[in-house]
Amino acid sequence: MSELATQPTADALVLFGATGDLAKRKLFPALYELERHGSLTVPVIGVARSDWTDAGFREHCEESIRQHVEDPDDGVITRLQKRMDLIQGDYADKATWSNLRKKLDRVHSAHAVYYMAIPPLMFPTVAEQLASVGLNERGRIVVEKPFGRDLPSAEELNRTLHSVFPEERIFRIDHYLGKESVEDLLVFRFSNALLEPVWKRNYVRSVQITMSETIGVEGRGSFYDSVGAVRDVMQNHLLQVLSLVAMEPPVGPESKYLQDEKAKVFAAMPAMDPQRIVRGQYVGYRDEPGVATDSNVETFVAARLEIDSWRWAGVPWYIRCGKGLAANATEVVVEFREPPRLLFDEAGGPRPERNLVRLRLGNDDGVTFTLQAKTPGQELDSQAVDVSVDFAAALGERRSAYERLLDDAMAGVPRRFAREDIVEQTWRIVQPALDSDSVVHPYFRGSWGPAEAERVLDGDTWYEPHI
Ligand code: BG6
Repeated sequence: MSELATQPTADALVLFGATGDLAKRKLFPALYELERHGSLTVPVIGVARSDWTDAGFREHCEESIRQHVEDPDDGVITRLQKRMDLIQGDYADKATWSNLRKKLDRVHSAHAVYYMAIPPLMFPTVAEQLASVGLNERGRIVVEKPFGRDLPSAEELNRTLHSVFPEERIFRIDHYLGKESVEDLLVFRFSNALLEPVWKRNYVRSVQITMSETIGVEGRGSFYDSVGAVRDVMQNHLLQVLSLVAMEPPVGPESKYLQDEKAKVFAAMPAMDPQRIVRGQYVGYRDEPGVATDSNVETFVAARLEIDSWRWAGVPWYIRCGKGLAANATEVVVEFREPPRLLFDEAGGPRPERNLVRLRLGNDDGVTFTLQAKTPGQELDSQAVDVSVDFAAALGERRSAYERLLDDAMAGVPRRFAREDIVEQTWRIVQPALDSDSVVHPYFRGSWGPAEAERVLDGDTWYEPHI
């Protein structure tokens, strides 16, 4: 058992929603990689309502791997398929649960992982049905986002799950926490002595976090129209990233220390100011299949946040996210204060620009420092130069977020999962954006969102991500 594990190593993986979209796009490719690396050693049992056979299920898994993994190894696929079985049946039917129980008994499972790749409305039913056959006593659940729709529903869901599983056996997935680049925020900040002394309000002028996607809702219209950008990515992915940029150093790598530091950041954040939230919707969204023709749901949101702590009081945190934007990028830009300018004024030259640390968390992850260096010539003028590193080139390929998270869930290591209190705090913070019935400003696909997004800034402009 790993030192960071708080739960025993799993001896079976049960996949609810095994024939669904998430399993197809993310989970089978991740299982393939685990199998390839030799880290998957247990039976994988799918549960699904679809009228499928074991053989059909294994074929479906293979198809998904061939679609999503470049040049997969046939031997690895066969090994994975050999550990796969399907329990087919309705979730409301008692027989489905006794069959699952019998199956787990047959493989002598005492610590299964139950992965809920199913619509959130079904989480309570599945948790209760697991309890009805005593399976809650020998395993843990992994719950996909969205975790609730707002604070009351998240609290309600936590209560329901806690009536069946204790908190330490609930693993809430936010796949951003599985990304190497996101986890690097922690390592980058706390392993570089150069940064820590200036990572505070005395030196930092503002922080911007942008998550932009070029895709629209891509066949998920009816799901997306019931959530919008705040629920889909801001409450979870963006606020998790913010907490890693803002937190104090945890005193150890164990989950509780990390979660405690995040919790302190969120506790120090007031709810969003309704005057500093701008919502947008891309032109054409209302024509997407599954979207209401008069939908007021946002596909873009920008907001200004604050952290009322000794480290951050007075520093604005600007965050924005959207679909149908100009580029695929997730970036944090930490903007530093201007240097004193006497030396440069005297020379009559341009004022040095602000230093930036740009943390790139998307596909081309890495970091760029924008520094000032002397412009060649007689004068003491400065100009911006970028010092940049591309992590894939410097460090080699990394494992996917889902592969790492599945591996953690199986190993019983909770530190890359979201704790109950943190999920609830994040809902509290975004509540004013959920309550907002303000206009959604239209924007064209391929732009950086509505021009009104500038309104959330204190007279500044958004930094365009480096792509
Ligand atoms: C998901 C959202 O959680 O994250 C999607 O539901 C979004 O709407 C996706 O596209 C983005 O993830 P990534 O890893 O591609 O940045």
